[in-house]
Amino acid sequence: MTTLVRQLKSAFVIASVNSTDNGVQITWKDGHESFYHNLWLRDTCHCPQCFQQDTLSLNSGEGEGHDPLKMPLNPVIQEVKCDRQGNLDIIWGGEEPGHHSVFDPSWLRVHCQKDPALKQRRKPQLWDASLSIPHFDYQEVMRDDEALLQWLEKMVELGVSMIDNVPPDKAGFQSLVERVGPIQQRYHPINIFTLDTANKLDGNIHHAYQYMKRLHNHTDHVNYNVPPKLQFLGCVEYDNPDNDKQAYSTLVDGFKIAKVFRTQQPKYFELLTQEYIPTGRRRLGVEEKVSERERGTTKYQWETYHRHHVINLDGNGEVYQIRHHENDRVPLDVSHDKIQDLYAAYQAFTALAESPEYTAEFLIAPGQVLVNDNWRLLHGRTAIHNPSLKRILLGAYMKPETFRSRLRLLLGKKSGMPNMWLMGCSDRALEILADRMNA
Ligand SMILES: [Fe+2]
Repeated sequence: MTTLVRQLKSAFVIASVNSTDNGVQITWKDGHESFYHNLWLRDTCHCPQCFQQDTLSLNSGEGEGHDPLKMPLNPVIQEVKCDRQGNLDIIWGGEEPGHHSVFDPSWLRVHCQKDPALKQRRKPQLWDASLSIPHFDYQEVMRDDEALLQWLEKMVELGVSMIDNVPPDKAGFQSLVERVGPIQQRYHPINIFTLDTANKLDGNIHHAYQYMKRLHNHTDHVNYNVPPKLQFLGCVEYDNPDNDKQAYSTLVDGFKIAKVFRTQQPKYFELLTQEYIPTGRRRLGVEEKVSERERGTTKYQWETYHRHHVINLDGNGEVYQIRHHENDRVPLDVSHDKIQDLYAAYQAFTALAESPEYTAEFLIAPGQVLVNDNWRLLHGRTAIHNPSLKRILLGAYMKPETFRSRLRLLLGKKSGMPNMWLMGCSDRALEILADRMNA
């Protein structure tokens, strides 16, 4: 523990502690000052009476240490100090004499309401056609948590990455996806899908192979209530007798074009953040092969309708999600006085999404898996004009919570903090904690 304290950055080391009327004032070694209200401190007490250290949850049974009905609204501190390990140590008085709370200093620092670092959002790095896709090695991300974390952090930054040297089969592809977390259940009966230029059945199911012409940039599953966060596309086979750019993948940074759109055409931008573009799917008899062992195919049914904005803003007015798929669009639901402007706005955004200036184009080669953030990027494919071109891709999706969960776990592990203190930290707090030690 002593070693740990010595290695902590000064922001996580308590310099002095003072008790005030209703709280505790802490001055940190980096000069920052924090204030914690007594009720907040008492409510977050992590002692075994108040907090179940095995299940990592509040011990709030009747008459237990953390019964909210018995929590004094004006808890009184009898004694407060920074203990030898550097923790904040409080002995309570008043209605709970002798109740003892010990708080980890790093945890306290990432719960300081006045620390501007906690309010900073990690900004995505926007890109255009000149994107250089970051590559990661399959074996490294499979065996090394630090490499896995670097990959997932790159996904937050750029929304795209390529994993090389993946065994070019279903098992290899699945192992990579599941290294991050469970594959998302789709409305199709199977979760890992195959795009095969030679397979007529696939042509019935996927827009991606219904036409050999260019597949325009789009996001997937716009008609889900919550669209998948990550899309994995792994190449099993690519054999192009013409040796040109047929069936190359295309990607656009939706956040980048939204920013350009916002600057160049603010009225249209506003319309696409406020008006709804409905999408839907109705599939009653499409056949799909459910498993390798099954000889025949299974019919499945799916019927959906969803109204959403093309550009979705968070509470701070920043774009957090793009939903754009022309193939899935259904009749517009817009007043007559707005339809021309809305359509013009939709056309203008679609043009940006297809603009060569913003479209990166590249091949997913056998043994490579492209991972893209489906809330941010639009993806497509260049045309296939030679029917003898062979291309087999495997695809799968991942829910936002699954991706976020793995990232949070890895950040927590890197911080070296006990589970008891990691549990319940915000994403930003975990990022800061992961970086709390001096190099
Ligand atoms: Fe797609």
